[in-house]
Amino acid sequence: MNSLILVTGGTGFLGSHVVAQLLEKGYRVRSAARSATKQRKIFPDNPNLEVVEIPTLTSDYTESLKGVDAVIHIAAQLFAKTNSVDEIYEAACDGTINIVHQSIDAGVKKIIITGTFASLFDTQLNTGSGSELVTEEFYNPVTPETFHRDQPLMAAYQESKTLASKRVWQVAEKHPDVDITILLPTLIFGPHVPNFPVTNAQTSIGSNFNLIKIITTGTDAYPTFPHGHLVDVRDIARAHVAALSVPPIPGRKKRFIISNTTFKWKDVADLIRRERPELAHRLPREDIVPPRQSDAPLDTSFAAKVLGLKEYIPWEETVLAGVDVQIAWEKRKDLSSSI
Ligand SMILES: NC(=O)c1ccc[n+]([C@@H]2O[C@H](COP(=O)([O-])OP(=O)(O)OC[C@H]3O[C@@H](n4cnc5c(N)ncnc54)[C@H](OP(=O)(O)O)[C@@H]3O)[C@@H](O)[C@H]2O)c1
Repeated sequence: MNSLILVTGGTGFLGSHVVAQLLEKGYRVRSAARSATKQRKIFPDNPNLEVVEIPTLTSDYTESLKGVDAVIHIAAQLFAKTNSVDEIYEAACDGTINIVHQSIDAGVKKIIITGTFASLFDTQLNTGSGSELVTEEFYNPVTPETFHRDQPLMAAYQESKTLASKRVWQVAEKHPDVDITILLPTLIFGPHVPNFPVTNAQTSIGSNFNLIKIITTGTDAYPTFPHGHLVDVRDIARAHVAALSVPPIPGRKKRFIISNTTFKWKDVADLIRRERPELAHRLPREDIVPPRQSDAPLDTSFAAKVLGLKEYIPWEETVLAGVDVQIAWEKRKDLSSSI
């Protein structure tokens, strides 16, 4: 547990939970962050956390990789936080490949990468909405030749993350001595770590912003966000930490689907009506029919068996924590605008 872990994305919604759990378990963490100040504000004065400021994911990581036992690469440009397909592609694809190559060159033998469940589905989400069991063998069919930058941001993100993981497996084949894991979380919701920095930008609350559209879209419509699988941020963080202790599995790629369950907007609305009645007037009217959400069955048995993720935090707890994050953000925003 005294190992030194280099983490990217430690200032983000998921990464801050991963760093918190690593520190709690006694790991030493070196965070490579775009803003060292932002990272240190989340974990002030922790002697086991070292922070190095590195401007991009395609920068030189040589110095920061010295003495590192394992790399957990979480950073990526979420599509909701940019208007640029180039930024998405460069972070997901060029950034990931850069970090994997540099880690291998530095002699790191264990690399854990945060992928996305969207890489399991075709871009039209037919697989994601079908009845066939989706396993770790499923891939979005994108290739470097078919990828194009003139497409919606969500599709570009899905395809960029998929291309990144396909390229990672090609690199892995050439380096059988390096143990690589790719985790595929579904939509991540849940609480913030203490001191998590939010700004007046809605997206600063993390991917809970997809969830809370249920109370920000208005009473005449449900959110149009097409996905319907979720996992608690604390559980997917736990999967990253667990992956550190899992030895290589000969003959099988360590590609894990991490998902608790599917969710339906109507059930989310009912839960909020019941548990947060003060928000009921902001929910879609009860006669409104929600749009289709991806709801294919996902095979999480590999993660259960190998990573020990047999039980997940109940989805209701995850959703309410995400809603509470939004309410805290709204209060803070009201406060700052009235000052
Ligand atoms: N959230 C979800 O629902 C979800 C679902 C499936 C997979 N994932 C994956 O989970 C990972 C973490 O997502 P998240 O929800 O925690 O996102 P997030 O809150 O936006 O955090 C992203 C992190 O990556 C860093 N980052 C972004 N672009 C960068 C760049 N160009 N160069 C260097 N650092 C960069 C951010 O740094 P700053 O703090 O400086 O911005 C931040 O630390 C990503 O790989 C994402 O693809 C997320």
